[in-house]
Parts: sequence; C-alpha cells; structure tokens
Amino acid sequence: MKIPLNLTINGDTVELTVDANETLLHVLRNSASLQSVHRSCEEGECGACTVLVNNEPVNSCLVLAVSVQGASVMTAEGLVRNNEPHPIMKAFTDELGIQCGFCTPGMLMTAYALINRCEGSELTDEFIRKSLQGNLCRCTGYVNIVKAVKKAKQNKDAGYWW
Ligand code: FES
Ligand code: FES
Repeated sequence: MKIPLNLTINGDTVELTVDANETLLHVLRNSASLQSVHRSCEEGECGACTVLVNNEPVNSCLVLAVSVQGASVMTAEGLVRNNEPHPIMKAFTDELGIQCGFCTPGMLMTAYALINRCEGSELTDEFIRKSLQGNLCRCTGYVNIVKAVKKAKQNKDAGYWW
C-alpha cells in the first residue's frame, strides 16, 4: 500500500509516496537520494544509518518512514552550509577522526546532537564514549573520534557553529 509522506528534510519540505513497510533509511537513500545515510546491519547495531528526527538521533533502519509523518529530519548533508563543511566536520578531519569514512555520517549526527545538548557543560572522554556507543567504527579505535568531538565542542563554545 502506498502512503503520502510529508517531511522536512535538511530544511526543505518534501512530499513523497512510500510503502507502508518502508524504513526511513530506505526512503532517505532511495527516494531523497541522501547517500550519507549508510546501510549496513539494518538491525540497529552499527549506527551507520543514524539521522536526527526532530533533533534526536535515531537508527533510521529501525524507523518506519510513515511513523515520522510531519517530522524534521536532518542528515549529514544538512550540516553543510553554502558548500562549507560544518565545524564538526572540520574537527573530524583536523583530528583524523576519519579513516574509511563509512561510520562518519552517523557518528557526526550522534555527536552533533550530543554537543547541542551539552551547551555550557564539559564533555569528558568517558561521556563521549558512552554517548557514541551505538555508533561502531571498524577503523579508528575511537581515540581520534573522541578528540574530534572535544574539538568540535571547543568550536561551538568559541561561537564557530551553526
Ligand atoms: S544500518 Fe541501522 S543501525 Fe546498522
Ligand atoms: S572510519 Fe572506517 S568505520 Fe569508522
């Protein structure tokens, strides 16, 4: 059964027609052509498909698209402004928090939500690691990812953020 779906995706209003059993992951990749939303386990284990729904990180492989009717969805593409990488992206490249890059869009979205939630408070290594435990990285060993999140927080605290 086909169902009309209205979303705001990265600030744009989008009208789509989706299958009743289609996941948000599938809709974002295949109907909205947002290839930063990576498909891997499709079981909620790896975090590669993480996007923000109404500012909260979700595993889009576990979300039926029709269940987020009217929501605001943000993907890593939405972090870029006027072709300029977001300060959180800059922090990940500066701190070498990226190797193959497969986990990176999901990692960015979880970290972006975390930093926005932690306005004015310090982010410890332990808290960052706990917050990112749903985002698996097979390459980096996480040390540089944690450094990148701290650097991104410094960027935000210095007013370099959007
Ligand atoms: S693809 Fe969604 S959590 Fe792995
Ligand atoms: S950089 Fe390769 S999976 Fe994280």
